[in-house]
Amino acid sequence: MKHFINLKDIPAKDLRRILIDAKKRKNVRKKLNNLDPDKGTPLKGKLLIQMFEKSSLRTRLSFFLAISQLSGRTLTLRPDELHLSKGGESIEDTAKILSNFGDAFMLRTDNDEKLEEFKKHLTIPIINGLSPSSHPTQILSDVFTVEEIKKKPISKLNITWIGDSNNVLNSLIAASIKFSFKLKVGCPKKYQPNKSMMNYIKKNKNKNKITIYNDPKKAVEGADVIFSDKVISMNDKVNKKRKLRDFKNFKISKNLMKKCPRAIFLHCLPRGSEVDENVFKSKQSKVWLQASNRVHVQKSILLYCFGKLR
Ligand code: CP
Ligand code: NVA
Repeated sequence: MKHFINLKDIPAKDLRRILIDAKKRKNVRKKLNNLDPDKGTPLKGKLLIQMFEKSSLRTRLSFFLAISQLSGRTLTLRPDELHLSKGGESIEDTAKILSNFGDAFMLRTDNDEKLEEFKKHLTIPIINGLSPSSHPTQILSDVFTVEEIKKKPISKLNITWIGDSNNVLNSLIAASIKFSFKLKVGCPKKYQPNKSMMNYIKKNKNKNKITIYNDPKKAVEGADVIFSDKVISMNDKVNKKRKLRDFKNFKISKNLMKKCPRAIFLHCLPRGSEVDENVFKSKQSKVWLQASNRVHVQKSILLYCFGKLR
């Protein structure tokens, strides 16, 4: 049994095994319907329990399809209906029940410590479906999408992030270290990655592959992929007006994209005002394929957690 909480803690070779499995599974599903099972019904009889403490469209639907295609089932809990949040039931007791009734637990939370506390008490795998500090299932899937479109290992590509230093960027940084790809981050000076991320970068052998720019034009030079995300994340407790103003020069416009003509544009969604409509809907934008690939990669993440990767 393995947990999937943070890319930093997962060996690079395991992340690669997940991507290889996802590619094989995706390739043989071309003619199947969403709910048709994969051959071998690998997770038959297994129940994935999901809980979202923050909104979700893609993660919710893609995990539903992922476990369904593996012949398992999912049950989504509403945090406001549980004793955990309403009546003060402990994480320890909740975890005991989840472990008795379920086979894996996927949690989207506003508190990283909660993931660790659940991990301590669960006897089933836990998957991080987004936390304040990371969004690992999203980024592993995005590595898959990049390699699928560019038909090259990501280590041979130049990746750029334009936007806030948030959970998604933290996972992209971890991916850059694990998969050894060049990553340029473009953001205003006051929104650079936090101390703990900077320390994580500094102590890694791939640290020189990650560069931070305060000029978006410099950050996109030579890029094969431009990533972005909302300037204001869920529950971001900031002065929203001021933050949006601070990011004014970091908007992804047609003019900015012209500086990197071979680049594709990716965005985890939902989007805000950080990208112009004509970029979002352009040929360079691959956001819909990016979203649908979550199903394929999350299937292989589930199999990894269950110790059933081929
Ligand atoms: N990208 C992503 O995680 O989307 P949701 O918040 O809709 O799940
Ligand atoms: N950074 C965003 C990602 C949403 C999928 C957030 O945390 O709200």
